[in-house]
Amino acid sequence: MQLDFDFSGKHVVVFGGTTGINFGIAQAFSRQGAMVTVASRRQENVDAARAELEKSGGRVFGVCADVRDFDAVGKAFDEAAQRLGPIDVLVSGAAGNFLCEAKDMSSNGFRVVIDIDLVGTFHVLRHAYRHLRKPGASVINITAPQSFVPMRYQAHAGAAKAGVDQLTRTLALEWGADGIRMNSISPGPIDGTEGFRKLMARDEQERERATAAVPLKRIGTVDDIANLALFLGSPYAGYISGALIPCDGGGALESVKPPLEAAGAALINEARKAH
Ligand code: COA
Ligand code: NAP
Repeated sequence: MQLDFDFSGKHVVVFGGTTGINFGIAQAFSRQGAMVTVASRRQENVDAARAELEKSGGRVFGVCADVRDFDAVGKAFDEAAQRLGPIDVLVSGAAGNFLCEAKDMSSNGFRVVIDIDLVGTFHVLRHAYRHLRKPGASVINITAPQSFVPMRYQAHAGAAKAGVDQLTRTLALEWGADGIRMNSISPGPIDGTEGFRKLMARDEQERERATAAVPLKRIGTVDDIANLALFLGSPYAGYISGALIPCDGGGALESVKPPLEAAGAALINEARKAH
């Protein structure tokens, strides 16, 4: 199910937008009439995404750039603005991740995720600024629950996404006077995506555990996230800026609960013994 918004004549850029959640967001904006630029590292992903988006009939531009390369990101934005004009909505969601205990992680393993997720997001925002429509642009950073809920084997991604969320709030302050809104979406586990497969659903048992951990008792869909992105990109969200918005069926709350419950149970047992 998708909400009905009109983005005709608007230019939407989705960085890291060629697969998974971010591609779903690009598709949603394209279906609502937007001109869409998608960018990522691999030419084959850019070509496939562009071809798929062209099926919805809108104008599409695809460009290859690694977010770790400051100059390449700058060139991508200059080309996108030249082709499709000032940017009305920017979605920044390029990311890399893997499960690894901090004690086993190499310096390069930690750095690669910081470089893609955090430094890469800075590169994207820094270059987008000169092409963002002022006033009126909406910027959406795609983060993750490990930004505010510590998760095992996620020291690198947790640190990176927490940094991205702080960029959201800091730049909402700095760019607010230009009429630019800036928000983060923090998706929960999303079906059919690389992130979910890699981190939480390596087999059926893990998938069932991930489902049980969500208060709404279902895994999210790409449309769940795309609908929120459409809303944040639209004038209906015109007074929302600097917000970190979970879209996770309440999952981030549940992740905090078990240790608290365990602590609670321990205290109750102590009290019983003392009685
Ligand atoms: N466990 C531990 N360390 C790992 C690892 C794993 N599963 N995967 C990669 N690393 C380490 C590598 O060993 C290397 O460190 P080293 O030089 O000390 O050996 C470092 O990370 C960089 O790996 P490399 O494969 O060279 O990086 P890359 O730039 O080619 O790829 C990744 C980046 C690792 C993040 C890759 O998974 C990726 O491109 N992911 C994008 C897709 C994705 O993860 N999507 C989900 C988003 S939530
Ligand atoms: P995905 O399909 O792997 O998407 C990642 C996108 O980023 C791809 O388009 C990829 O394309 C691009 N990318 C990766 N490294 C890049 C780089 N160095 N430079 C430029 N582009 C790069 O992953 P996903 O699971 O849908 O996740 C999308 C976003 O949602 C991420 O920010 C992730 O952290 C977040 N998230 C996902 C989940 C989930 O359940 N899936 C949960 C919480 C948060 P190329 O390979 O062509 O570069």
